[in-house]
Amino acid sequence: MLSFSPQPPTRLQRLYRATWGRVFAALYDRFLAGAEAGKLGRLRAGVVGDATGVVLDIGAGTGINLQHLAEDAQIIMAEPDPHMASRLAARAAALGRDVDLVLAPGEQLPLDDGSVDHVLCTLVLCTVSDPAATLREAHRVLRPGGTLHLLEHVRSEVERTAKIQDRFRAPWSAMACGCQANRETEALLVPAGFSDINLEHLTLSGCGPMLSSMIVGRATKAP
Ligand SMILES: C[S@@+](CC[C@H](N)C(=O)[O-])C[C@H]1O[C@@H](n2cnc3c(N)ncnc32)[C@H](O)[C@@H]1O
Repeated sequence: MLSFSPQPPTRLQRLYRATWGRVFAALYDRFLAGAEAGKLGRLRAGVVGDATGVVLDIGAGTGINLQHLAEDAQIIMAEPDPHMASRLAARAAALGRDVDLVLAPGEQLPLDDGSVDHVLCTLVLCTVSDPAATLREAHRVLRPGGTLHLLEHVRSEVERTAKIQDRFRAPWSAMACGCQANRETEALLVPAGFSDINLEHLTLSGCGPMLSSMIVGRATKAP
């Protein structure tokens, strides 16, 4: 495991992590189990399954993407939360997958420029502190011609749903470890340097208004 600490967490962040953050990590797979067995799992498999070579998963959580990644992929998983990271390490061991686990946020990746073939962002750009900076980092570490794979909760295109997302953003974020499901993530891709953007907007039924609106697809770092 590679360790990297850009800045120490504040006292409040430490308290949140040690209490609800720990519980959230313990329950995360159970929260998602139903959706993963259905459409969400199929979307994941489709969007990350063709990543080969050096693959970086940003905010990898408990490592759910591992089961969909090619056997010969060289996997780096960046995850700043220690409770998520320890579950990720346990999952990798149980699956017999060799993973370089980096305790780092997406905004400051301790990786060289152009060192990665594919970057995965699944359900994470809604949670990082700075999605624009995270996408710039993803672009920096990708090799020219490398691919960004996205599966993200985003602001709904249905105005009524978007208003609910806006209204409940703060309490939802406090409950869901920072998730801000009303972000307009697609608009950040071109400013971060990506091109050849190929995204589908879709609705995930049964998830409620906060999480039902998603984008799935890919973007490229120009060759
Ligand atoms: C909703 S979970 C998604 C986990 C995983 N990507 C998945 O698809 O199941 C969001 C993850 O982002 C992580 N996270 C929070 N802040 C982050 C940051 N600044 N950079 C990278 N990951 C972050 C959280 O610890 C959590 O593991």
